[in-house]
Amino acid sequence: MNLSRIRAAVTPLARRFPAVGASLPTAEALIARERPEEPVHCLRPAAAAAAARDFIASFGGTVLYAVKCNPEPAMLRALRAGGVEHFDCASISEIALVRQMFPEAAIHFMHPIKARGAIRAAWAQHGVRDFVLDSTEELAKILAETGAVGMNGALGLIVRLALPKGGAVLDLSGKFGASAEQAARLLRAARPHAARLGISFHVGSQCLDPLAWRAALDEVAEVVRRASVAIEVIDVGGGFPVAYPGMEPVPLGAYLAEIEEGFERLGLPDAELWAEPGRALVAGAGSVVVQVQHRRGEALYINDGVFGSLADAGVLGFRYPVRLIRPGGPEPSRQEIGFSFFGPTCDSADAMRGPFFLPADAAEGDWIEIGQLGAYGACLRTGFNGFDRARLVEVQDAPFVASLGYTRAALAA
Ligand SMILES: Cc1ncc(COP(=O)(O)O)c(C=O)c1O
Repeated sequence: MNLSRIRAAVTPLARRFPAVGASLPTAEALIARERPEEPVHCLRPAAAAAAARDFIASFGGTVLYAVKCNPEPAMLRALRAGGVEHFDCASISEIALVRQMFPEAAIHFMHPIKARGAIRAAWAQHGVRDFVLDSTEELAKILAETGAVGMNGALGLIVRLALPKGGAVLDLSGKFGASAEQAARLLRAARPHAARLGISFHVGSQCLDPLAWRAALDEVAEVVRRASVAIEVIDVGGGFPVAYPGMEPVPLGAYLAEIEEGFERLGLPDAELWAEPGRALVAGAGSVVVQVQHRRGEALYINDGVFGSLADAGVLGFRYPVRLIRPGGPEPSRQEIGFSFFGPTCDSADAMRGPFFLPADAAEGDWIEIGQLGAYGACLRTGFNGFDRARLVEVQDAPFVASLGYTRAALAA
């Protein structure tokens, strides 16, 4: 009997959501038994549920999970079990998936530029009522496709504010958002049609600087002043960071304290506060186990890469916690060295400089577990070069972050 389920690159949004397969005590148990030659995604739903519970308990407002970050049904179920009732979706496929899984969930369409058909289907078929926009053209589109012109009943309109480049590892400032002046104009234009009118922003993903939220909320205050209309929602977006080797954020409370103070300074006691965390809820709840296919000096050729679930290890140079798994083989060397990785495709861009600290005798045939990959990992897989297959398994052990401490020390040395 196979203990894991095989799936190709793009199935999570295909709206079939069978159980993952058997739940195993550890990734090692699967490796020892199946000796897989394809990447294995290890899901730890209990960790996602716990992260959701913690975030919801600490944040003084409504928590929307950003589905793009990890749309795996097992993960969505875990977050729901952890108390998530609101979902930030950016495409009609994400919306359909969430609606099918959770008929009662509140779904918010948070992409500022949407296809007309997607707006229509979201509104008419899936009961979505909140839409983000950052231009007058998008406002016209939303009103035309929902038919909500002049209606003061159900429509929620959230104006996305552009922010200057800040302290985020993944800057999102250039693509979306209205300037303060445009946002104020849009709010005034949207007001007569909105049952809920709001302002949102996104400080960028993996934002290490709590003051980024303070600066953003000060900008929001300026927009509120200029717009001079009633505002019902302030949405502080996502961007809450997690720890990776060499990148350790201050505790979540520091970010939430800035948000709480900034929100209070706005002086909108009746407004709702929303956040859209993705990474912070699921990063720890997923890892991938890869196999070493070849070693050349201090470079390991592995069976997953930047066109698979390790995209952020490529150009962005993310380092992840790693550990060697060699079931039944000789004890790995105690000495560790920093390796770089190459992925399986023939593209020379399929390279991850690391360094990833592993036993010095790492060799062909070994497996490596790469942790903190529950966010922006499996969901980024492509079918490029035919490397689209992965296995999926649920494991019960704690999230794999064990080598973070060692790697930090090694990097500092
Ligand atoms: C609009 C929006 N909200 C929320 C998120 C989630 O961000 P993160 O995973 O950094 O929390 C993103 C990610 O890009 C986003 O674009």
